[in-house]
Amino acid sequence: MATCVIQYDDIISARAQAIDVSGIRRVFELGATLANPINFSIGQPDFPVPEPLKEAAIEAIRADRNAYTLTQGVQGLRDAITARLQEDLSWQAPSDELGLLVTSGTNGALLLAFLAILDPGDEVIIPDPYFVVYPALATLAGATVKYCDTYPDFRFTADRVEPLITERTKLVLVNSPSNPSGVVLTGDELRDLTELCERKGVLLVSDEIYDEFTYEDAREDGRCPSPARTSHNVLLIRGYGKTYGCTGWRLGYAAGPKTIIEQMAKLQQYTFVCAPSMAQAGVIGAYDLDVSPHVRAYQRKRDMVEQAFGGVAEVVHPGGAFYAFIKVPATAAGSATAFVERAIERNVLLIPGCVFSRRDTHLRLSYAVNDQTLAEGLAVLCDLMTSSA
Ligand SMILES: Cc1ncc(COP(=O)(O)O)c(C=O)c1O
Repeated sequence: MATCVIQYDDIISARAQAIDVSGIRRVFELGATLANPINFSIGQPDFPVPEPLKEAAIEAIRADRNAYTLTQGVQGLRDAITARLQEDLSWQAPSDELGLLVTSGTNGALLLAFLAILDPGDEVIIPDPYFVVYPALATLAGATVKYCDTYPDFRFTADRVEPLITERTKLVLVNSPSNPSGVVLTGDELRDLTELCERKGVLLVSDEIYDEFTYEDAREDGRCPSPARTSHNVLLIRGYGKTYGCTGWRLGYAAGPKTIIEQMAKLQQYTFVCAPSMAQAGVIGAYDLDVSPHVRAYQRKRDMVEQAFGGVAEVVHPGGAFYAFIKVPATAAGSATAFVERAIERNVLLIPGCVFSRRDTHLRLSYAVNDQTLAEGLAVLCDLMTSSA
């Protein structure tokens, strides 16, 4: 075999090098040393995929429906989403004004949206704390991230966003219910944000992957508040992975201004091609299923978390998702990262705030675990917080 003269490090793009994975990797490396940790670090539900969805996916494979699908998504699923959007938001999509695209996960939709909208030098405004992927996607698109500091209440409001808008701003990204805080914005807050973006000629992208996991106290008219309820000038992005426990199926969709969706579809043709065929077949009947028992179970777990930290640490009320963002008490001395290291010594794994933020003051706890594990882990964390006082 000829001697290899390629210097692999030298050919890595500046784009790839600009993305840092060290935060999460460090937690996983530390966690890998634990045999059977209490794992509060995982961002996915702990229930299995409902049987009818499994059956539908298996049936599609068996019936040899394994080929590429239309880039836009199979008709049966598109029809199901159209009906859902009509019923939930009074949106008519697809229509002359609004487009609809089935995507490879919510992340797939976000990536296509960023690539379709952002040029190098453009600016995108995201909340801080944020879902880890947002800054990385902006970097891939060559855009600059403007972080909107939402501490201490984690509300991404028009008042906080407006001062950050410049001539280069093309996109504002809202995520409610939020990862990592679980905070749900009100319909009024979302309407103000939408109106601000419309006034400034900026696109509002709404990542609503946790829409179904909105608890009773944060629902309005029984639904998750959405900016899409008052405007068509919103790029709505939703997914199936969290709601139906099928994160590995990689399925989501985008709906919104037709011009944007058409460009995203073109980019999808040359990249993902289509969302996985068997997954599309699997979720066609998803909207007939009642997911409320899971949502109620997570609401109860949310209550357990708030109760446990009452009088011990500050937790902004999570109205949805399955996360709590807990402030490390000053008495527990040190950064969130230092606290996570101490928690790992006690066999509990969670993620320090610096992975989701420019600050390292909070901990993200995913409570999508069984009640007993949750109770045990909460007891350890509370003990650590009070005993180091
Ligand atoms: C806020 C948010 N958006 C998007 C995603 C990605 O979802 P998907 O698995 O559908 O790509 C996640 C996953 O954790 C998330 O928390």
